[in-house]
Amino acid sequence: MNANTLRQRFLTFFQQRSHALIGTASLIPENDPSVLFTTAGMHPLVPYLLGEAHPAGRRLANVQKCIRTGDIMEVGDDTHLTFFEMLGNWSLGDYGKPESIRWSYEFLTEQLGLDPARISVTCFAGDADAPRDDESADIWLSLGIPRITFLPKKDNWWGPAGATGPCGPDTEIFYDTDPSGPIGETMVTNPQRFWEVWNNVFMQYEKCDDGRYIPLGQANVDTGLGLDRMLAVLQGVPSPYETDVLLPIMEHLRRLVRQPDTFALRVIADHTRAAVFILAEGIQPGNVDQPYIVRRLIRRAVRYGREIGIEGHFLADLAETVIATLSDPYTELRQQRDHILLSLDREETKFQGTLVRGRHEFSRSVDQCRARGKSILPGDVMFKLYDTYGFPVELTQELAQQQGLEIDLSGYEQAFSAHQERSRQGAAGRFRGGLTERRPETIQLHTATHLLHEALRRVLGTHVEQRGSNITVERLRFDFSHTDKLTEEQITAVEGLVNEQIQHNLPVSWQEMSLDEAKNSGAIGLFEDRYGEVVKVYTIGDFSREICGGPHVDRTGQLGHFQIVKDEAVGSGLRRIRAVLV
Ligand code: ALA
Repeated sequence: MNANTLRQRFLTFFQQRSHALIGTASLIPENDPSVLFTTAGMHPLVPYLLGEAHPAGRRLANVQKCIRTGDIMEVGDDTHLTFFEMLGNWSLGDYGKPESIRWSYEFLTEQLGLDPARISVTCFAGDADAPRDDESADIWLSLGIPRITFLPKKDNWWGPAGATGPCGPDTEIFYDTDPSGPIGETMVTNPQRFWEVWNNVFMQYEKCDDGRYIPLGQANVDTGLGLDRMLAVLQGVPSPYETDVLLPIMEHLRRLVRQPDTFALRVIADHTRAAVFILAEGIQPGNVDQPYIVRRLIRRAVRYGREIGIEGHFLADLAETVIATLSDPYTELRQQRDHILLSLDREETKFQGTLVRGRHEFSRSVDQCRARGKSILPGDVMFKLYDTYGFPVELTQELAQQQGLEIDLSGYEQAFSAHQERSRQGAAGRFRGGLTERRPETIQLHTATHLLHEALRRVLGTHVEQRGSNITVERLRFDFSHTDKLTEEQITAVEGLVNEQIQHNLPVSWQEMSLDEAKNSGAIGLFEDRYGEVVKVYTIGDFSREICGGPHVDRTGQLGHFQIVKDEAVGSGLRRIRAVLV
């Protein structure tokens, strides 16, 4: 059975049981700023698990693309993956444990032909928040599965996906990959042998801000079956890397090296696939959030590639194989092909230039540590590797571990903050004569810049981010991320939106808050240079919220009439607008 058949069988099975098929949601969560990626099929469904009516009904099923970054260091073994596909079915206050467990059992044994003798399960052992799940255990017994282990919350409770939200006890289904192994072993004593293939969560609780679990108004079912792992089981291969989804990528890599190292090949295959899917969401490598994760994945793949002797650029080519293998179910890979290949190639070029020198610097520091009898890599060395050679700190940490060294993370953070402070002072110097002049014209244009920034995001899309700003008494100049020339209509729409806010005479106010609070409040602005800082957030009516030092006018009515005078390209993916207040 190949991946397409498995996806299809799963969906058909649940469709026949009155489930509406909903497509995959984006990898980037839409309503949950506390998490960078969609980590499970239930994640985009949180509002419906909490009681809102889903337009497609109370029974849903899909195949959801997921990213889990917590497992990056585990990747390379037989089961952990950064990107994976989750087959899931849901009851939103509809059916309960009996149907859910029975259908899982039927699908596994009748549709996929798994031997019931190789199936074992776990159930929730109960605690102060929720009782022991004897109901699930009894259902398993009635289906002829007597191998049941009761485990506490840390094993048999799932969710919430973010900090708060729906969660509950679960029953997890394991498959014995080595039935000739020692008698008496279980998923607890030997997780390599017993693979968790399906997780059925009974989402009947909500975790609140204060850490309490309160019963939900509706009892839901949320299940997740890992496609890659299940394929490995069905295809009788030792790991997901030999299935029809990942084998072509592994074979492509093997052709590039003379002495393939399985661990390194697996890391490269996994990271490249994950990077391709993240880039397909329109993300570009960068220094914070999703852009940082994709940068880390790409750089780690490049590092392993060089280590096993792959010469020259290889990621974009490898991505072509990923796209060929997965673009039938995920057409966005084909649509975003150019962006994916170009981003990979650029990032590889950037890192390649410094990787060798950075490795050299790293080895020198390791030698120095050893010569001094030290076993900790100093923070300033880590910072230099980050700042000068582009080594994500996690990469340095991994290299250090391989050398048996610890790292000085707090020393690194101190070096990082000191650097930020220096660059802030530098930046303040550069702006002198501009904003610091505090002439009424520049203050007005500064407020107009905030309105323009927000208007651009509303008209062109939220990929628009400020890349630079310069204000004189005559005009504002604003650089932002966007590729195409603005059309006549777009310019008119942006001007119209800004002038509308001016006419509304909106109040301008500010508040100090932590960076996290600023982010959570939806403020836009530059986050990367402000690690650990208290920031000022300026709010204009309910139109704009932006991190900024000010100063600004008190009300937008003081601005006059806003007019764009020029729109030009100033680099690839970068545009510049000049505008005036008349
Ligand atoms: N949400 C559950 C999981 O991710 C099904 O395992």
